[in-house]
Amino acid sequence: MVKKMQSCVFISGRGSNLKSIIESSSNNNFPIKVSLIISNNVKAGGIKYAKKHNIPFKYYSSKNQNFFEKSCINELKKKKIKFICLAGFMKVLSKKFIKTFGYKILNIHPSLLPKYRGLDTHKRVLLNKEKYSGCTVHYVTPEVDTGNVILQTKVKIIKNETITSLAKKILMEEKKLYSKAIKLVLK
Ligand code: GRF
Repeated sequence: MVKKMQSCVFISGRGSNLKSIIESSSNNNFPIKVSLIISNNVKAGGIKYAKKHNIPFKYYSSKNQNFFEKSCINELKKKKIKFICLAGFMKVLSKKFIKTFGYKILNIHPSLLPKYRGLDTHKRVLLNKEKYSGCTVHYVTPEVDTGNVILQTKVKIIKNETITSLAKKILMEEKKLYSKAIKLVLK
């Protein structure tokens, strides 16, 4: 049994990666406990997992970035959070936030970084007729999707692949990859 690090997951939407991280953390040997969930979207579907698993949850609007980040830092300190996973969190965190927090922050992105940073990944991948795509877990830096890569999974693009089918296929891999990457960086 490992001593679990108090951790927070940031979300903005559906929360399938959040769900898989929570499920992994129920294992005694998984290195984190999800002690806090933060959303910048009051309607994020992922909020239901906070309720289901009785995990403290906070919503802060990120319209004012300074307000959002200050509120997060206060709460993170209060809960002694030492590790953050961004999971479908659609806001870029500032350099100041990353420095003030001072511990590891991870993100998952649905492409083989450094290719296809930013939004509309699957659409651009298909337009460029790529043979492969995938997902990446990486460290968070102030520039979008640029931090050091921790782990990647590659998926093959088949004939007649659509944005929806590709997104689905990659999401299946994302769910496994995030937990693997967390174990790897905290071993
Ligand atoms: C995932 O594809 C993730 O890679 C990207 O946003 C999506 C979030 O999905 N950053 P979910 O909220 O985890 O279901």
